[in-house]
Amino acid sequence: MHQPGSVLVTGGAGFIGSNYLLQVVPAHTEVTFVNLDALSYAGNLMNLAAIEQAQNYAFVKGEVQDVELLHALFAQHAFTTVVHFAAESHVDRSIRDPLAFVRSNTLGTVALLEAARAAWKDDTTNRHRFYHISTDEVFGSLGDNGAFRETTPYDPRSPYSASKAASDHFVRAYYHTYGLPVVLSNCSNNYGPFQFPEKLIPVVIANALQQKPVPIYGTGLNVRDWLYVGDHCAAIDTILRWGTTGDTYVIGGDSERTNLDVVRMLLDVVDEATGQPVGTSRQLITFVTDRPGHDYRYAMDFTKLHQALGWTPSHALEEGLRETVAWYLRNGDWLNAVMDQSYQTYYHEQYGL
Ligand code: NAD
Ligand code: TYD
Repeated sequence: MHQPGSVLVTGGAGFIGSNYLLQVVPAHTEVTFVNLDALSYAGNLMNLAAIEQAQNYAFVKGEVQDVELLHALFAQHAFTTVVHFAAESHVDRSIRDPLAFVRSNTLGTVALLEAARAAWKDDTTNRHRFYHISTDEVFGSLGDNGAFRETTPYDPRSPYSASKAASDHFVRAYYHTYGLPVVLSNCSNNYGPFQFPEKLIPVVIANALQQKPVPIYGTGLNVRDWLYVGDHCAAIDTILRWGTTGDTYVIGGDSERTNLDVVRMLLDVVDEATGQPVGTSRQLITFVTDRPGHDYRYAMDFTKLHQALGWTPSHALEEGLRETVAWYLRNGDWLNAVMDQSYQTYYHEQYGL
């Protein structure tokens, strides 16, 4: 078992990282958490208001590829543990600016691995762990059958997934070459509170609340597997403590849907929550130009995680979407704050809507 003492969390102001910190900081008061985040467009300290005063939490603004900063932080905090979320995470942005993804996702991960290797090189206590958070997209695109598992060969097809695949390879290379105590997970599409409104679920919610067109790429028949973010964070905490060093765990939601099906379900949930006749918002669905190289289907076989560590998702999709819509309705201020001018410009250029 790994017992974290002092944890460096990277990217903790983003969607999954902030949900993780909100879950673990109050739950593990004996552990200190230092959140290193560049506060890009996707990172927001508002997400962390509930824990900003906690005694066992601190924030540092900076980039994971800043080697000097990393060495200083490792020296200051004697980290036992790294939980590495920081990344550029949106496929559409990676198509526009691949180099930004190489810098943060690939170079940033290698810089972090180097800092951990240097800090932990004389360790004989076996009390360290480097947890790399990755995505199912590194496995490429499935046809109508089958599912990704830990042994599936890598076949990334977007600049985002290529940069994440490269980072995964480096993490494993540091395990085999230097004995760095790593663990990895590859997860399917997350949804839930604090997700920036450029990903499918919050785009649909934000647009439906304003009765604006809801963009569907191509035919809408692409399939994703959806996991509630709180369930992903619970899996991460389990793997961090109980996972086997050097191993990879695939995480999924058991909720495969076509984009069209998930959008229809979500629009009906919005109608229900806002008191409109259910079905009204479906008329907002607008088919737009497809994403280049759009992966057709992702699906996860997380038998290993379930059998070895007992984890299973606790939210059915419709229930998770209800919670998510309720959260966005309660947090209109958050949505307005993040949908600033740069987001509006990006959105307009992306969809022409
Ligand atoms: P996000 O875009 O919401 O947040 C990323 C965070 O990282 C932001 O706070 C941003 O400021 C920070 N960041 C970006 N580049 C940085 C850098 N160079 N240095 C320091 N901080 C930096 O992303 P997310 O959806 O929360 O994803 C987190 C991780 O989980 C990523 O590694 C992603 O690949 C992985 N993942 C995401 C999903 C998903 O559905 N969102 C699914 C599987 C895996
Ligand atoms: P996204 O949330 O960007 O996640 P990913 O590309 O990492 O799976 O997209 C989820 C699916 O929804 C994907 O098939 C692309 C599609 N999509 C739309 O149809 N319309 C949209 O506005 C967005 C953002 C995505």
